[in-house]
Amino acid sequence: MSESSVVVTGGAGFIGSHLVESLVDEGLSPVVIDDLSSGDPARLSSELRFEQLDITDAQALDRVIGSAKPSAIFHLAAQSSVTVSVQDPGRDCQVNVRGTLNVLESSRRLGTPVVFASTGGALYGNSAPRPTPESSIPAPWRRMAHPNGLQRRTSTRGRNQRVSPMPFAGSATSSVHDKAPMARPA
Ligand SMILES: NC(=O)c1ccc[n+]([C@@H]2O[C@H](COP(=O)([O-])OP(=O)(O)OC[C@H]3O[C@@H](n4cnc5c(N)ncnc54)[C@H](O)[C@@H]3O)[C@@H](O)[C@H]2O)c1
Repeated sequence: MSESSVVVTGGAGFIGSHLVESLVDEGLSPVVIDDLSSGDPARLSSELRFEQLDITDAQALDRVIGSAKPSAIFHLAAQSSVTVSVQDPGRDCQVNVRGTLNVLESSRRLGTPVVFASTGGALYGNSAPRPTPESSIPAPWRRMAHPNGLQRRTSTRGRNQRVSPMPFAGSATSSVHDKAPMARPA
């Protein structure tokens, strides 16, 4: 296993591309997996290994992750648009639940840890302590009652023990893809 190799799914996306930049600064060699459905390859250095593939394609995903022999997998590939999740909940589920499971299966096969952050603090509502521990009881805001909210809860709670979740940041934010700012309930 190459200690300097890491995989970033969704590495051409908003969070993923910043993470890739930081990993490079740390001297690591990220292998980026992204289907470019919403990501932008211009965010990535041309010197990086980039694999354009859909994480719902389990075989292709496993092949790329297997060949990268990463010391960690950062999973940020997602159908992240709330609007799309309402228009096409089946695709939302395919990418965010099935695709996440595919990543976890590759990680299990290779014994590689996964770092996974699928939601900001929105899942835990307004009265949760900050920073919010994972043991907090979910109390989603009303806006979480859409398919995207359901998949976030499913993929966060459905993970296996190999997943190393990122600690939640102190402030809960709405997704940058939400059209209107998310109003907190009183
Ligand atoms: N941006 C935020 O404010 C925020 C807050 C909390 C949590 N998150 C979570 O962080 C993760 C990443 O968010 P983001 O804002 O960077 O989203 P983003 O849409 O900018 O990035 C997601 C990336 O995944 C890629 N992708 C989508 N479907 C794919 C597929 N089937 N196969 C391969 N790649 C695919 C897209 O092309 C894109 O590059 C999501 O799980 C999101 O819910 C984001």
